[in-house]
Amino acid sequence: MNARGHFSNRFGFIAAAAGSAVGLGNIWKFPFEVAGGGGAAFVIMYLLFCFLLCFPVMVTEIAIGRKTQKDPVGAFAALGFPKWKFLGKMGVLAGVLILSFYNVVAGWAFGYFIQLSIGNFEIGNQFGDYINNIGRVGLYGIVFMFATAYVVSKGVSGGIEKASKILMPTLVAIILILVVYSMTLPHAFEGISYYLIPQFSEINFRVIYNALGQAFFSLSLGMGALITYGSYVSKDNNIISSAALITISDAGIAFLAGLMMFPFVAFLTNGAVDTVEGGPGLIFQVLPGAFESMGLVIGRIVGALFFLLLSFAALTSTISLLEVPVAYAVDELKVQRTYAVWFIALFIFLLGVPSLLSNGDSQFFTNFITYLGADKPTNFLDFIGHVGSDTMLPLGGFLMTIFAAYVWKKHNLNKEIETGYPGFKGTFIEKYIDFAVSYLCPTVLGIIFILTLLSRFLGVHVF
Ligand code: TRP
Repeated sequence: MNARGHFSNRFGFIAAAAGSAVGLGNIWKFPFEVAGGGGAAFVIMYLLFCFLLCFPVMVTEIAIGRKTQKDPVGAFAALGFPKWKFLGKMGVLAGVLILSFYNVVAGWAFGYFIQLSIGNFEIGNQFGDYINNIGRVGLYGIVFMFATAYVVSKGVSGGIEKASKILMPTLVAIILILVVYSMTLPHAFEGISYYLIPQFSEINFRVIYNALGQAFFSLSLGMGALITYGSYVSKDNNIISSAALITISDAGIAFLAGLMMFPFVAFLTNGAVDTVEGGPGLIFQVLPGAFESMGLVIGRIVGALFFLLLSFAALTSTISLLEVPVAYAVDELKVQRTYAVWFIALFIFLLGVPSLLSNGDSQFFTNFITYLGADKPTNFLDFIGHVGSDTMLPLGGFLMTIFAAYVWKKHNLNKEIETGYPGFKGTFIEKYIDFAVSYLCPTVLGIIFILTLLSRFLGVHVF
């Protein structure tokens, strides 16, 4: 019996991979990075990074997965380079770390869905107390991890694919409804202008660095999530067009999230969007007030829909994060899938408890670490994010492209892409991917990794 799962068709794979990509990063973070980083100028730059830099990495990950039909650790061994298994293990570790804090934030979002469904608009003003209430957010975190594990335990086609095929179209429908509704609100135009008017003068190295990191994280790259999903894809799949569709969906949803969000903020502030303090806290602190002003019934519906959207986006991402260690346990450690899922989910939930406690409940985890040169401590949740995603993902991407170009070798990568896309050889895309994987991606990702180390942990700010 073939214990490995499989996506049943191309749409199933794309829905699942786009589901992994579209997450809190798109809806929680992207809009504010755009607004604070030059509006449309940021969007253009972001799209360029997605396609020029991230797309080749995505193609590489999917190709490694599909070629070997293995989890990220087994994949490097199956290609004949058992020494590179460490890179797969680093990916598994990154997935575990990221999921441990991501699930906490996803739980907040899910809790907000419940709160707004029952019309508790006050929750925005109580955000600090809310995330501090370990009983409550702990429960939401358990529910969220449970839902994630439940889907993953049902397997690749019966769980991940099935859930993605329902959640992703629903997510698109909800976001479109909210975009259209937000456009009808007073001051919508001011919101959109604030979001999009290009301000090239705001683009500096810091903004470029943020855009690169955001693009890489948002596309779920650098830890083998797409090696894992790629390993469930059949050989006749065209990797290039699939990766393009995944990238377009991710960037498209992020863009729509901003179109929906800023009219809400403009509505609340009577057009004075810039009086509101930006940043990711805004979603949890400010938006409930905007929903309240829409009236009891509409506000409740729109508010609940908004946080349902956020929860769905997060769920398809937590699913992919959990699948990476699960695939490793199933393929390499020969653990039965159901056991692997529930055991790993429990372990990661427990690993996330310090993150749950790091917003005031526990002084130790709240003031967890003070980086060199920093004047304030960093809490545990942010610390795990800085290690698991900001640092390990660019490092993973750097090593992955070095591996593909110089160890596994480009002609093998190209041959794998050609399977499923017979006309690939000699195309401009082939030449570009070869160039990017050999030179551009390792250089840029290596630089991001070093800059992150320096600025995050060592207090050295190059710019
Ligand atoms: N891309 C997701 C987001 O934007 C997060 C995510 C899910 C992720 N799976 C991943 C990030 C794997 C890196 C690697 O929210």
